Amino acid sequence: MDKNISKELLAARKMEMELSESILNGERPVYHVASPLGWINDPNGFSVFQNEYHLFFQYYPYETKWGPMHWGHCKSKDLISWEYLPAAMAPDAEWDQGGCYSGSALEADGEHILIYTGVIDKKLEDGSKYYRQVQCMAKGDGLNYEKWEQNPIIAQDKLPEGSSLEDFRDPKIWKEEDGYYLIAGSRSADGSGQILMYRSDDLKSWDFVTILDSCRNEYGKMWECPDFFPLGDHHILIVSPQDMRAKGLDFHNGNNSLFLYGRYDHQTHHFEREKVTSADYGLDFYAPQTMLAPDGRRIMIGWMQSWDAKITPSSFKWAGMMTVPRELVLKDGKIYQKPVRELEQYRVNPVTYQNQMILAPTKLDGISGRVLDLELEITGSDFEQFSICFAANKEYHTELCYDRNKKTLTIDRTDCGLVRDAVCTRSMEVQPDTAGTEQLKLRILLDRYSAEIFVNDGEKTMSNAFYTPMEADQIIFDANGSACVNIRKYDIQVSR
Ligand code: FRU
Repeated sequence: MDKNISKELLAARKMEMELSESILNGERPVYHVASPLGWINDPNGFSVFQNEYHLFFQYYPYETKWGPMHWGHCKSKDLISWEYLPAAMAPDAEWDQGGCYSGSALEADGEHILIYTGVIDKKLEDGSKYYRQVQCMAKGDGLNYEKWEQNPIIAQDKLPEGSSLEDFRDPKIWKEEDGYYLIAGSRSADGSGQILMYRSDDLKSWDFVTILDSCRNEYGKMWECPDFFPLGDHHILIVSPQDMRAKGLDFHNGNNSLFLYGRYDHQTHHFEREKVTSADYGLDFYAPQTMLAPDGRRIMIGWMQSWDAKITPSSFKWAGMMTVPRELVLKDGKIYQKPVRELEQYRVNPVTYQNQMILAPTKLDGISGRVLDLELEITGSDFEQFSICFAANKEYHTELCYDRNKKTLTIDRTDCGLVRDAVCTRSMEVQPDTAGTEQLKLRILLDRYSAEIFVNDGEKTMSNAFYTPMEADQIIFDANGSACVNIRKYDIQVSR
């Protein structure tokens, strides 16, 4: 092993070698990135390096709860089958001893560049507390990374007036024709979130450009984990606000992730926000990050957990998983999310039902399991509610219910086996196709402990975690009235 590796990183890697083999081979998600051991949160450094996809994540390998942040690491050739690599960074430098917080990555001149937030959390000689968040850089070869000795690359002297000295984090970097750009979350003088934009020619020296957008206390407080990219003829600014208040079915209390949809003027760097929507309507989704794939697809991945409902059972040695990577497409002013098409290569054992009438609780031959891709088209106007229970047996189930009259889709994990008083239901509005057929399309991805729901080809999504024992693997359809459904089910098989 490289002799430059710090004792902190060495300790994390040793822990991984000792433990993660047994955990990796255990009952973890099959095609979703999940913690190799210990705790993970936000996706970081989602990028392509030397023709492979790399994903890093906020990581504390020592316990299944948040602790001083490391960067964990994995890579993939197709975004579905992931190889776990040794931890990439540990909090071991004077500018990040309090944690290596979220950030991003890109390939530059043959090197893999990681840009992240270093947390400085120490006591000064006079006993007072000193806490700062600064932006830092590390470079590597896809396996080992070295932090730049002259970090930080952006510190408090580059903050616009009135900005918080303490909340300044989660840099997202990208390259344009005229240089490198970076945005980071910050707080303005009134305590609410703002997104700062910087520019650099050489990745080392950065100039403040503009405040790209600010919250003005409208959408929560601090804006975390920003991302910014063109999609179709618009630009999307993604932010993950803390401390939001619920608004109808659009937003829920606490941490949300939002798409700010608008126009961007490259000359003036002005972003004109036109509308704000939730990035996901499920119980577990936060801090998404995107990457531009070599074929031009904009691909997003999110952390499939809520800060306020950490429901992983205490017996687990790993805590936290990511969503499936999703391609973002703009259509008629709406941002569609589709599981990356590479997933389809892993479909096996197809089972199809055409025009199946559902009038009462119904199990269908060949439709069961916990690792699958299930597509449904629900038609008919003689029912009020149509439901699917999955991860079900006599004791447990999680239910997805479509209410035709209310035009809502509701997830309910009350009976998934939870022993904590966490939020268990969430609803979102859905629009059946009104062009005559009144059809609602659903795609449900199950991967042992999660259900991701894509409505009408990804017009809206709901991501949810549940940790029901694996023996609960039945799927039960039901309708209040009579519903007519087309069903296609595939198992997903990934050999490791
Ligand atoms: C978001 C976040 C980031 C921060 C990281 C710390 O979930 O709070 O703002 O960088 O987690 O782990």
